[in-house]
Amino acid sequence: MLANKRILLIISGGIAAFKALDLIRRLRERGADVTPVLTRAAEQFVTPLSVSALAGNKIFRDLFDLTDEAEMGHIELSRSADLIVVAPATADLMAKMATGQADDLASTLLLATDTDVMIAPAMNVRMWDHPATQRNLATLQADGVRIVGPNQGDMACGEHGPGRMSEPLEIVAAIEAAFSQGPLAGQHIIVTSGPTHEPIDPVRYIANRSSGAQGTALAEALRDLGATVTFVTGPATARRPEGMKIVEVDTAQQMLTAVQTALPARAAVFAAAVADWSVVGASDQKIKKDGSGKLPSLNFAENPDILATVSQMTDGRPELVVGFAAETQTVVENATAKRARKGCDWIVANDVSPETGIMGGTENAVTLITKDGAETWDRASKTAVAALLAQRIADALKG
Ligand code: C5P
Repeated sequence: MLANKRILLIISGGIAAFKALDLIRRLRERGADVTPVLTRAAEQFVTPLSVSALAGNKIFRDLFDLTDEAEMGHIELSRSADLIVVAPATADLMAKMATGQADDLASTLLLATDTDVMIAPAMNVRMWDHPATQRNLATLQADGVRIVGPNQGDMACGEHGPGRMSEPLEIVAAIEAAFSQGPLAGQHIIVTSGPTHEPIDPVRYIANRSSGAQGTALAEALRDLGATVTFVTGPATARRPEGMKIVEVDTAQQMLTAVQTALPARAAVFAAAVADWSVVGASDQKIKKDGSGKLPSLNFAENPDILATVSQMTDGRPELVVGFAAETQTVVENATAKRARKGCDWIVANDVSPETGIMGGTENAVTLITKDGAETWDRASKTAVAALLAQRIADALKG
């Protein structure tokens, strides 16, 4: 998908620069031509030799390197690429970009270019949260710069929170989406998938039989139409989809938080089988049999309804919100009522009675319920159902 795409990869100086080496490898595997540019600070983290060897290309480092200017001026270098990717993008380089400074090769290229630019920020969580960085981010977004990440997690500096650079494959997915010609190109879509696990104690949990197969197929079908997909999944047995950002969660509450963090999105599809209840006061020690014959009892609390919460947002609601309804009886009636109750636009209803073999199986038979009524589709593979549904989503977002 990236065959012969010319990517100018600017590596700025942060600990995440080591991930740029893997990014180069992944881009080249997909046929891209990568020309690296290193800032001076980046050279403290990765060596020019290793970057150049992996890229199989000359690297550029210095604005005043006259040989380079004779061979290729910085203006031409900045415009000869199909896409400029900055990974990692430090707080400092983001600030320079936002204010139009040009005091080294990287910042000069970014100011001189007329090519699309994508950045993968990476910095300490406090630097990321700082109003100055958030202002710069808003400016860059308004300038049309594409942003990938950052992710939440443990950081090299020992703190925890947003600021970790996206993983190389997530950046590759964003780059592929940037080049996509499909009808959903440039559209962000959130897909939830799989079951949730609600803990009883550290070793036991309440779960359901959802495999995540339909959600995975759907996420890939949307990706194939060019969408930038965020895939929020519970502990599903299905393989993980490729070419998108994946957020792994366990509980319904975590799934809601992940979805809210991933917003805004043009559409959201809630294919997850979310547990309706969580256990109140889940024990942080394993509950033991004490030999008295006394049985433990569990108290439940209702989980947040992610589909209803997002459907009923007054500010920033995705244009199209799609829910699933797994029913075992009077499927269409129940799903139609569910669409109204939750406030979503569409419901994809299916009969998960054990005799249908749908839950955990490879096929699905669905009825699509919209404001215009119910439409029953022929039973087909989950992949075929996903392709059909993705196309319908693309058509709806176009109209
Ligand atoms: O109410 P019910 O569980 O049948 O609704 C199914 C739909 O609602 C699915 O799209 C599912 O992903 C979503 N849902 C949710 N949060 C819940 C329960 C269900 O998003 N707590």
